[in-house]
Amino acid sequence: MTPEQLIQLAKEAMTRAYAPYSGFYVGAALLCADGTVYQGCNIENASFSPTVCAERSAFFKAVYDGHREFTAIAVCGGREGRITGTFPPCGVCRQVMREFCRDDFLIYLAGAEDGYETHTLAEILPCSFSAGEHMSR
Ligand code: THU
Repeated sequence: MTPEQLIQLAKEAMTRAYAPYSGFYVGAALLCADGTVYQGCNIENASFSPTVCAERSAFFKAVYDGHREFTAIAVCGGREGRITGTFPPCGVCRQVMREFCRDDFLIYLAGAEDGYETHTLAEILPCSFSAGEHMSR
């Protein structure tokens, strides 16, 4: 699976967004270590705080299905379903990534044109609190 293919799946997922309040559509495609891909979209709520991001909906689907190892995620977002720039994952989604992913987990952020940015989890979530931290000391 190339980054371009994963981004294409994130773009597809963006069309499933339920975002009547923000009008901001986000799609994600999460690549598991075994090659399986899970797509996710943001799902908003009239009460706002129950809103879930595209990245987390992809992770939760995958974890529910038994996956625990992940290689990369592609994310795209924009107003009314059109990609309008590169949008990094929110802090809550980064912490969910931290739970299941190593430092070298790759994050591809699709841009408005054909290009994309590549980041690692270590880069976007330095000095993080990770699984086992509270049990080892
Ligand atoms: N959103 C995501 O889906 N992923 C992020 O990492 C940032 C924010 C969604 C949540 C909400 O539905 C909309 O974008 C505006 O914040």
